[in-house]
Amino acid sequence: MRIYDIIEKKTRHQELSREELQFFVDEFCSGRLPDYQASALIMAIFLNGMTDRETADLTAVMAASGDNIDLSEIQGIKVDKHSTGGVGDKTTLIIGPLVVACGGRMAKMSGRGLGTAGGTIDKLESIPGFNIALTKEEFIRNVNSIGMAVTGQTANVAPADKKIYALRDVTATVASVPLIASSVMSKKLASGADKLVLDVKMGSGAFIKDLDSARKLAEAMVAIGEHNGRETVAIVTNMDRPLGKKVGNLLEVQEAAETLAGNGPEDLTEVCLVLAAQMLAMAEKGSYEDCYRRAAQTIKDGSALAVFRRFIEAQGGNYDVIDHPERFYPRPCARELLADADGYVHILSAEDVGRASMMLGAGRETKDTPLDYTAGIVLDKTAGDAVAKGERICTLYALDEKKFPAALKVLSAAVCVRPTPPAAQPLILAKISRGG
Ligand code: URA
Repeated sequence: MRIYDIIEKKTRHQELSREELQFFVDEFCSGRLPDYQASALIMAIFLNGMTDRETADLTAVMAASGDNIDLSEIQGIKVDKHSTGGVGDKTTLIIGPLVVACGGRMAKMSGRGLGTAGGTIDKLESIPGFNIALTKEEFIRNVNSIGMAVTGQTANVAPADKKIYALRDVTATVASVPLIASSVMSKKLASGADKLVLDVKMGSGAFIKDLDSARKLAEAMVAIGEHNGRETVAIVTNMDRPLGKKVGNLLEVQEAAETLAGNGPEDLTEVCLVLAAQMLAMAEKGSYEDCYRRAAQTIKDGSALAVFRRFIEAQGGNYDVIDHPERFYPRPCARELLADADGYVHILSAEDVGRASMMLGAGRETKDTPLDYTAGIVLDKTAGDAVAKGERICTLYALDEKKFPAALKVLSAAVCVRPTPPAAQPLILAKISRGG
């Protein structure tokens, strides 16, 4: 078999066999295949797509490229959750405590930020002392005792995805339905959960920008999950606007705590309740409606916030940073974006809000860029809010004042004031399970 022939076959829109996909993954993982040939094949897949059969085979081959995590020592039905990524997406930090406070469990491996989409592990690392590299024993012990644990993806869970993703990230080939489906599902199949809830983000702040592609992605992932014996439900949620009002690592941890205390933004609270209720229902903790009501109650009675604190402390994190960041970090510089007219706030590009936050220091420009955990953006007003000329719309935070001009330029093009309010947008766009 020659990689040249496989690339050429895909450029001619032909279907690749499982053996050819296996050959590609084996050669690439072993270091025998140079990046330029791997990139050429990935670009051909990006442009010409893959059939359902090819997508399922690529997923299986990538899932088998590393270890399969055995979670059998964790009691009960293990339901995992994965988001395809978006701006301000701190849902894992909220859903975990909601699920645990209702009697469920969350054993989660998470990743770092990708492009403008933040990553749970980066957010958790903003908590001084928080250990994101639990041993398998610590991970299982914490899930069994506290109900939840979140750890970084070990090097050997779907290593093929890690290598392919790194190339996609720098060759503009992320936004492909078969490539995202196989990337997400290879990791999920290898990481041992019994059932899966997928949060498929759609909109300007997500990799997938339109509802039709989001549905296709959701259907593809549900089909792969079900084919591999894992009940899978995908919920398509809106990412045309950042989720919640805070974007940036520590800012998002703080917003997670505010949401669990009942003071969070409506959109974030609702998406988290929907996803938590779905996970609980699949863990056989009651009907979806009942689980939703109980999850909402854990916010009111403070039990979900108490789980959040226990989870952070069990992984070595200092919870005080949430209320007193100045005790741990230099106070960041702040700049305000003010309304230039009376009217209503419009968010034209969630992606650019994420980009501005990255430029302030909250995201990586290269894979080795150190993060500034206190950097980011607070949307004092969000889409649809009325504002008066001169009123503050957003506050930007950075350690270095020099970062403000460029970030402000991007942000002021993405967030603007217009005389009429923007059209209301549904938050939950579709729910896809086996059979549609
Ligand atoms: N999240 C993933 O894990 N993989 C992708 O390709 C996109 C989002």
